[in-house]
Amino acid sequence: MYKLLITGGNGQLGRAINSLYLKRDDIECINTDVADLDITDLNAVLNYVEKCRPYAIVNCAAHTAVDLCEDQVDLAYKINAIGPRNLSIAAEKYDCKMMQISTDYVFGGDASEPYIEFDVPNPQGVYGASKLAGENFVKEFSTKYFIIRTAWLYGDGKNFVKTMLRLAEERDEVGVVCDQVGSPTSTFELAKAMDKLLFTDNYGTFHGTCEGVCSWADFAEEIFKLAGKNTKVNRLTSDQYPAKAKRPAYSVLENYMLKLTTDFMFADWHDALKEYMDWLQKQ
Ligand SMILES: NC(=O)c1ccc[n+]([C@@H]2O[C@H](COP(=O)([O-])OP(=O)(O)OC[C@H]3O[C@@H](n4cnc5c(N)ncnc54)[C@H](OP(=O)(O)O)[C@@H]3O)[C@@H](O)[C@H]2O)c1
Repeated sequence: MYKLLITGGNGQLGRAINSLYLKRDDIECINTDVADLDITDLNAVLNYVEKCRPYAIVNCAAHTAVDLCEDQVDLAYKINAIGPRNLSIAAEKYDCKMMQISTDYVFGGDASEPYIEFDVPNPQGVYGASKLAGENFVKEFSTKYFIIRTAWLYGDGKNFVKTMLRLAEERDEVGVVCDQVGSPTSTFELAKAMDKLLFTDNYGTFHGTCEGVCSWADFAEEIFKLAGKNTKVNRLTSDQYPAKAKRPAYSVLENYMLKLTTDFMFADWHDALKEYMDWLQKQ
């Protein structure tokens, strides 16, 4: 039996991992969220891991509110950097694997072709900087680690797709930025990639995003198309839609390491979105 300690288990990705393993009787998910295990508390983490003795720690916990991180700098670093540090210290002490989820926002966004794992990060905001600090701690304190950088996640929780579907009920048109480009990624696809790595010794840093590229405005148009809505998308520049945190203009990731070392291929973002929206309808 493989025991997985899932932190941030009630978040979008935590839920996807759980649903992936629901029917696997060789895998037991020990789900925790902040009330059960606050990853910023080193002693709590050490005690929990000592008792639990998992095969792997899968850290789905994070401070993911990108704009709020600019105002809550200490909290962002506590959750996104100290948290994975604590988990990595425990993983090393109790000899288990460590899987950390990171972000495309570690990159500067001024590239003209997809970032690979060997490119140098240059975060533009507190969220990206704190997640990069988390990556560095994981590398520093654990040996059997996987870091997976993903992007524009949607799944069972609060996300862009659900926001657009809500706005389509309230308005005839929405303004969405068209000068930030990336790869929307379904948590269900990401969970499959995590599963592909978790039971191997194929350690290191990986990019894990759906195939294909679009802007937030393109993404919104596809959501409305699939939902059969006539909502008009007004394409805005980032200057016309000011936000607290600066975001990378181009944060496309190439899943280079996954392709070099596994046979796993993410679905194209259009297909993954359709599958997700079909799933949403059944909820
Ligand atoms: N969402 C995206 O677009 C995106 C893009 C790129 C990368 N990522 C990364 O992907 C991973 C999963 O993201 P997600 O969208 O699933 O996040 P999410 O839905 O926001 O879930 C994060 C979870 O972490 C929990 N948490 C917060 N502080 C904690 C603490 N101190 N101890 C334990 N748990 C804590 C949260 O609980 P509360 O809700 O109670 O605070 C929440 O359940 C994260 O590492 C994120 O940085 C996300």
